Amino acid sequence: MRTSGSPATLLVFTLLCTFLGLGRPLSCEVCKGSGPTCTGKIRTCEDGKDACVVIVGESSTKGRHSLNTYKACMKFKDCYSGFVSTTMGPKDYMVSNAHCCQSDRCNQGDLPAPHNNRTENGFQCPACIAPFQETCPGTEAARCVGQETHCIYFAGNVQAGIINTRFATRGCATESACFTKAGSEVPSASYLYFLRRADCLPARYRPGRAE
Ligand SMILES: *[C@@H]1O[C@H](CO)[C@@H](O)[C@H](O)[C@H]1NC(C)=O
Repeated sequence: MRTSGSPATLLVFTLLCTFLGLGRPLSCEVCKGSGPTCTGKIRTCEDGKDACVVIVGESSTKGRHSLNTYKACMKFKDCYSGFVSTTMGPKDYMVSNAHCCQSDRCNQGDLPAPHNNRTENGFQCPACIAPFQETCPGTEAARCVGQETHCIYFAGNVQAGIINTRFATRGCATESACFTKAGSEVPSASYLYFLRRADCLPARYRPGRAE
């Protein structure tokens, strides 16, 4: 029996397109700003970006604190919903809450600012921060805090405004940071990272020892 062109075929085709994410592109709110919220234009996502994300992050860079919010389109498979904490040193860390969703404008709401627990938990990791570099030695030791039980080694490129440069960094992280894989494009609340390396291993427990 030939059904070509029949309503049944059309229905199957439509369902298939829906399942495969073909057809109408997603639209998301896009903005970036300091503070616990931001508002921006609703934009159509480019090809392959099948999720909207909202991230609110608190970070310290050499002791300089900031709270930022980021909303955009991204790939759903690279998008982690939840809490991530990373610590490279006592004055260099980042905590964030993120939410990923797949319907139009679903990232328009706000998220609570992430809980920033700086209590040391006895885990330690090799640490380094190397802007403009491809690797970094990890000769320092970071003392992990809060829920951080893993060590990360992330390297690739980072986009800050119009500047795109290499970076490499090692330090403590929550297990949730292991979701991030090499080859992914992941935003933080402040920067956009293109990761060529994303190692994540359980940290060593050595309370009281400072190396
Ligand atoms: C903060 O982190 C420490 C170390 O992991 C933990 O013992 C403590 O319960 C945490 N506090 C809160 C409020 O989560």
